[in-house]
Amino acid sequence: MCGIVGLTGEQLKVTDLIEALERLEYRGYDSAGVAYLKDSKLNITKSRGKVEVLKNHLGENLDQTIQTGIAHTRWATHGEPNDVNAHPHFDCSCKISVVHNGIIENYRALKIRLQELGHKFLSQTDTEVIPHLIEEYYNGDLLEAVRKAVLKLEGSYAIAVVHVDHPDIIVGARKGSPLVAGMSDSVKAIASDVTPLLKFTKEVIFLQDGELIELSANALKIVGFDGTTHKCQPVTVNWSYEDAQKSGFKHFMLKEIFEEPSCIVSVLTGRIKNDRIVLEELEPFEKMLIDSKTIKVVACGTSYHAALVFKYLLENTTPITVDVDVSSEFRYKRPHLKPDSIVVAVSQSGETADTLESVRLAKRCGAKIVAVTNVVGSTLTRESDCVLYLNAGPEIGVAATKSYVAQLVMLYLLAFKIGQLVNDFVPQSSQLIDKLMRIPEIFENSLKSSDKIRELATKYKEYKHFMYIGRGYGYPTALEGALKLKEISYIHATGYPAGELKHGPIAMLGPEFPVFAIAPNDSLFSKMKSNIIECRSRNAKILALTNHDNQEVTELADDIVFVNNSEEELYPLLMTPIIQLFAYFVADELGLDPDKPRNLAKSVTVE
Ligand code: G6P
Repeated sequence: MCGIVGLTGEQLKVTDLIEALERLEYRGYDSAGVAYLKDSKLNITKSRGKVEVLKNHLGENLDQTIQTGIAHTRWATHGEPNDVNAHPHFDCSCKISVVHNGIIENYRALKIRLQELGHKFLSQTDTEVIPHLIEEYYNGDLLEAVRKAVLKLEGSYAIAVVHVDHPDIIVGARKGSPLVAGMSDSVKAIASDVTPLLKFTKEVIFLQDGELIELSANALKIVGFDGTTHKCQPVTVNWSYEDAQKSGFKHFMLKEIFEEPSCIVSVLTGRIKNDRIVLEELEPFEKMLIDSKTIKVVACGTSYHAALVFKYLLENTTPITVDVDVSSEFRYKRPHLKPDSIVVAVSQSGETADTLESVRLAKRCGAKIVAVTNVVGSTLTRESDCVLYLNAGPEIGVAATKSYVAQLVMLYLLAFKIGQLVNDFVPQSSQLIDKLMRIPEIFENSLKSSDKIRELATKYKEYKHFMYIGRGYGYPTALEGALKLKEISYIHATGYPAGELKHGPIAMLGPEFPVFAIAPNDSLFSKMKSNIIECRSRNAKILALTNHDNQEVTELADDIVFVNNSEEELYPLLMTPIIQLFAYFVADELGLDPDKPRNLAKSVTVE
């Protein structure tokens, strides 16, 4: 998975490409490179490491004025991260250069064939076959050569291509990986997502699978892989360029946690009228929902944890069974779905390969897909029957934070809506809905405890292991807390249903293995209390997360963080900023970069 960008137009400099690339670094950052056309010459600079390293390599060249350029930030799949495997790649004549996001599955066969034809390869990447294929087909028309080349490619890709003979042209193609184009009067741009385009325009075109685009200084043309002309359909995105900046916070992750109250407002806006949930998008499927006995949910990572909260909520409030699967497992199972089945696909990016494949499998069974996602125009949105947008704005930190909160809120709305459809659970839901509307304010309060959480992070940062435990609604929170901590601080952390401790994990506990207990005063607190006592008697330190009225925890825990009292259904939401801040401060205290955790990428568009 990688970030690609291409710019053509007036008054552009190399530094514009670099700035655009920095916006995409969340997609991968083990190497980076640029190729730009200046005075009919192709200049390529690439190196292992983050964009910052590339910047140092470019030095004075950053100020060079260019006609056209492409750039890449890489998350290695084929070939280790090094200077040679870094993109852009080029052909034998060094006239054609390509950046690519995705995987070319048939690259070995293509490479052998091209080598037989005399092409010389330098890297271990799958990508390098692309410029050589284009070289084979090039006959003066770059768009046509790229079109012929992509017909030979199997796998998923978004590419951008330049050729020295066409100094103001970039050709892009998309199949299975995202690609967005934008145009202003002076600049035409293409990128893996809208963030780098916002500096130039808010009018963007989300390319469809099987489309090619030719951008030149004055024009833009889209054709299908079959060569037919397609209509350009620009949409206006409301994200401002500043949205994607840090706004004074040390890291995007911290900024994004602090944006959670406003995210919740965005999700809730227009969705509640007189205690009724308004999800007009769902209307065509209401009858199916009312008749459903089971709803299947597919998701990965943090989205999976949001889906688990949905399961607890819907199963506790309706007769419907919610069957949640990790997408990478579901896609290879016998699906047991029928044409009247509803599948909810939860994915902040809408581009996660395993979730998309799960959706495709479900669709082959005739099931209807309800997508919960943050990214307008993402692949998931185009392949689903109904889309519930989160409207959480761009999330740059690799670890999902505000998008998780937005997912939770949307899934609460969805569960309440289904509850209202199925059994009109108004008395209970109106109270919950009322509380839900007050959540942004409560979040603001929770965020005020960030200094206290930093102190705790300082105290606990040296531990090498952490056990997160919870019961009922607290269990998904325990899983998400452990995931957040391990992904950004590299501390071994595991999440468990507290009742399962005695079936194995308790063997590991001791003075060096603290326990983070999700312990609100809910219907399962008495059980949770026993579990905490079991942990204490193994000399484990206890850090507890509970609600203000639950003073009983004071006798059980070494350290406590309190959140507002609430209905038990809402604690997964209320406790989220605390587990996120704890992970963030531990990582920061350890001197790590929480925005760019090692080995991880924001959107996993390959299997
Ligand atoms: C990656 C990200 C996670 C995210 C997961 C699923 O692993 O690092 O933060 O939860 O993908 O992504 P999705 O976009 O489908 O929610």
